[in-house]
Amino acid sequence: MDILRDADIDPAPLAGKRVAIIGFGNQGRAQALNLHDSGVDVVVGLRESSASAAEVAGHGLTVARVEDAVASADLVMLLAPDEKLATIYREIAPHLRPGAALGFSHGLAVHFKLIDPRPDLDVILVAPKGPGTALRSLYAQGKGMVALWAVAQDASGSARAIALAYGRAIGCARAGLIASSFAEECEADLFNESAVVWGAVPEILTAGFETLVEAGVTPEVAFLECVGELKLIAELIEARGIAGMREAISNTAELGATLGGPRIVDDGVRQRMREVLAEIRAGQFAAELQKEEASGYQRLKAARAKARAHPLEAARKRLDP
Ligand SMILES: NC(=O)c1ccc[n+]([C@@H]2O[C@H](COP(=O)([O-])OP(=O)(O)OC[C@H]3O[C@@H](n4cnc5c(N)ncnc54)[C@H](OP(=O)(O)O)[C@@H]3O)[C@@H](O)[C@H]2O)c1
Repeated sequence: MDILRDADIDPAPLAGKRVAIIGFGNQGRAQALNLHDSGVDVVVGLRESSASAAEVAGHGLTVARVEDAVASADLVMLLAPDEKLATIYREIAPHLRPGAALGFSHGLAVHFKLIDPRPDLDVILVAPKGPGTALRSLYAQGKGMVALWAVAQDASGSARAIALAYGRAIGCARAGLIASSFAEECEADLFNESAVVWGAVPEILTAGFETLVEAGVTPEVAFLECVGELKLIAELIEARGIAGMREAISNTAELGATLGGPRIVDDGVRQRMREVLAEIRAGQFAAELQKEEASGYQRLKAARAKARAHPLEAARKRLDP
């Protein structure tokens, strides 16, 4: 596998070029600030209704209306919510310079053809593997966050060089830029969100809490056992891998994990994971995301309200000093 770091990458493709960052949210804020600190000419494109204009200007960044930012840029990064990108692309397409580059931090909109970019554009992906807050704080510490990169359209012949220079300028090549594709990044990312870290882990923590409380265990104790220890195991796995984590814990914990873990995550779970992946690949998730936006995010609002009302939250708050 091809992992590139700072020394492997020429920063020149962004020299004298302007990058427009559309959106100043989780990724937009971090990427704009990192680019600026790397000496890249950045303009942040915001809607007139945006509450972020003062903050952007306060950081010494140029701020402009979305279409003006786009019209002035050589590379336009679309860093707004994925379900909004098709509409945003329709609005900015007439303002994109001939031969400009269009960039994404997630492959969904291009891979599932919510956007059909003009043939004269380079289309690139630089997807940091973590939230913008961490992307920014790592950069400020002189470190970086690993990112996947890909090219979907290479009209100029320079798309690869632009993607790599961009990944370097936002600090990701300090950790490593990994060659991928829009399809791979998108499908693996959606799979993890649906079926592993963001989808299954909170469900299993909640199910464990409910099982103990139903059996008469005090909610605070159930919370400490089933939820409170997550950070400890995450840190151990990050530092030492899953094998190293097993060696670091007590024999009691290790035997419990060895006997109990495979009973919970059995072949049925693996089969349902395959089903989730197949649905993602068939475009079902992308369609659900569009439907969710059209409904005013009804399911997301209901899920947030349900999580807030769960007894696990009351136990967490009682434990909070
Ligand atoms: N969040 C992450 O940790 C993460 C990690 C890796 C990759 N990504 C990818 O990065 C991209 C951005 O995600 P995000 O989480 O950073 O988004 P986000 O925080 O939800 O983006 C919010 C920003 O988008 C702007 N925006 C929303 N609708 C807009 C519109 N119609 N026109 C112009 N601007 C609009 C908002 O402007 P206002 O100020 O006007 O509301 C705000 O500045 C996505 O492709 C996502 O998959 C995200």
